Amino acid sequence: MLATLNSFVISGIEAVPVKVEVDIQNGLPAFDLVGLASQATREARERVRAAIKNSAYEFPNRRIIVNLAPADIKKEGGHFDLPIALGILLASEQLENNLSGEYFLSGELSLNGEIRKIPGVLPMVLELVKSSKDIRLIIPKDNSEEASLVTEILSFPVRTLQEACEYFENKTELKAVNPFNFNDVSNKQILPDFADVKGQDVAKRALQIAAAGLHNVLLIGPPGGGKTMLARRVPGILPEMSRQEILETTRIYSVANLLNPIHPLIDVRPFRAPHKNASSASIIGGGKIPRPGEISLAQNGILFLDELPEFSRDVLEALRQPLEDKVVTIARAQATHTYPADFALISSMNPCPCGFFGSEVECKCTPLQIQKYLGRISGPLLDRMDLHVEVPRVEYEQLKERSIGENSEIMLQRVKEAREMQKKRFKRQKISLNSQMRPSEIRKHCMLDDESEGLLKNAFERLKMSARAYDRILKVARTIADLEHSDKIKLQHLAEALQYRSLDRKYWHL
Ligand SMILES: Nc1ncnc2c1ncn2[C@@H]1O[C@H](COP(=O)(O)OP(=O)(O)OP(=O)(O)O)[C@@H](O)[C@H]1O
Ligand SMILES: [Mg+2]
Ligand SMILES: [Zn+2]
Repeated sequence: MLATLNSFVISGIEAVPVKVEVDIQNGLPAFDLVGLASQATREARERVRAAIKNSAYEFPNRRIIVNLAPADIKKEGGHFDLPIALGILLASEQLENNLSGEYFLSGELSLNGEIRKIPGVLPMVLELVKSSKDIRLIIPKDNSEEASLVTEILSFPVRTLQEACEYFENKTELKAVNPFNFNDVSNKQILPDFADVKGQDVAKRALQIAAAGLHNVLLIGPPGGGKTMLARRVPGILPEMSRQEILETTRIYSVANLLNPIHPLIDVRPFRAPHKNASSASIIGGGKIPRPGEISLAQNGILFLDELPEFSRDVLEALRQPLEDKVVTIARAQATHTYPADFALISSMNPCPCGFFGSEVECKCTPLQIQKYLGRISGPLLDRMDLHVEVPRVEYEQLKERSIGENSEIMLQRVKEAREMQKKRFKRQKISLNSQMRPSEIRKHCMLDDESEGLLKNAFERLKMSARAYDRILKVARTIADLEHSDKIKLQHLAEALQYRSLDRKYWHL
């Protein structure tokens, strides 16, 4: 007997429909799983066998072949357990399918027949929405809230294999998940405020520009100047996420299996601060079972790499491609996974191992040590930092100052207004932020007058800039103009953008 069921394979952040075919024939007892299944997926055989026995069914002592089709996509994960188990029970005629219509199912089994939470349910429901047919989805109970984010699809949660079987035979009614109540969420957090930072007006300004257009920043300066303190205050000046951004980001966390079962929404902009010793797989993505890394988890928010030169060379070099393309592609022998990675990188560093090179305090490092340290940040990586900002030591007079600096509320208001300008500009286009502009959009939206053109030409030649730096300067200048509600990029906007590209001369001597 042959039984065929529908499930999915997760590729990147997409759920691709897969057929689970189970064939049972007489012959020597065997249980084979074919169709480019990974090791973890192949382990389904042991879980399914135990779960069937422990759910008071019989595991057929015959020749069982399970085929996951199409065979050219690598199958990862344990969520094929449920369709495989049901397929075996159907093909061995221990179970009758009395369900009408089309359905998909996914779930990982524990040995006692319970169904465990799985990654990737949101991509699954989003895939089914695309089809106009009447389709049902059967999922683990612990994924109910996540499935309920998409109301157009009827999702039925099951706790155990037994329960799924009874549902199939029409012996029990299952209740479809209730639509998620988006109004029911309060995402208010108490965040640190920029008012705590004394002085450092240039850095605060640069971080405000970065927040407005989602540009990358490199903060460089001696120890204790407040680089970490400044970066940690950026979340407080990021505007609320749109519904589309929430779904886009939540989808990545779903695939990474990082959603909270009760509140399965990423509705606060991500601020990811991985440790400098974190592996390349955890930061960039990948691993044995491919998963999105920190750069993807930072989607629509901030990736903060504190003490940038201390990260491994692998990580620093691997960052280059996603910083340019805003997606990351992880290539494997049998599969390629693409994850979104559209974030602003905020990074900080000292200019030398002792930290004081270029400051008033004497630096104890040799020129070779300094060169080696700075050399960890390669030219192409430095080129992708839109705003280079020096964070000097704060003066005693400034620290003593009673009056508080500009607070996050005022800064956030400006960021919001600049984002409104961008939203209007890119209406009916796929992008919504200046940093996302492609060359054609840069040409259209970053026109310069003759005087500004002259300034840029001069700087380009004097600083021996790359074409990449040229584009990035124009994007930053566009954001600076937006912060001033100016439709045109004026000379002062461009001049400010250029100012943030000069640090490499001071430290790197490029
Ligand atoms: N501009 C500032 N205004 C007020 N307090 C500050 C300022 N700069 C530093 N501090 C104080 O000093 C502490 C250390 O600052 P922070 O850790 O941000 O420095 P850093 O530049 O990251 O140093 P390092 O290079 O050693 O990492 C802060 O927690 C804060 O208490
Ligand atoms: Mg620090
Ligand atoms: Zn030094």
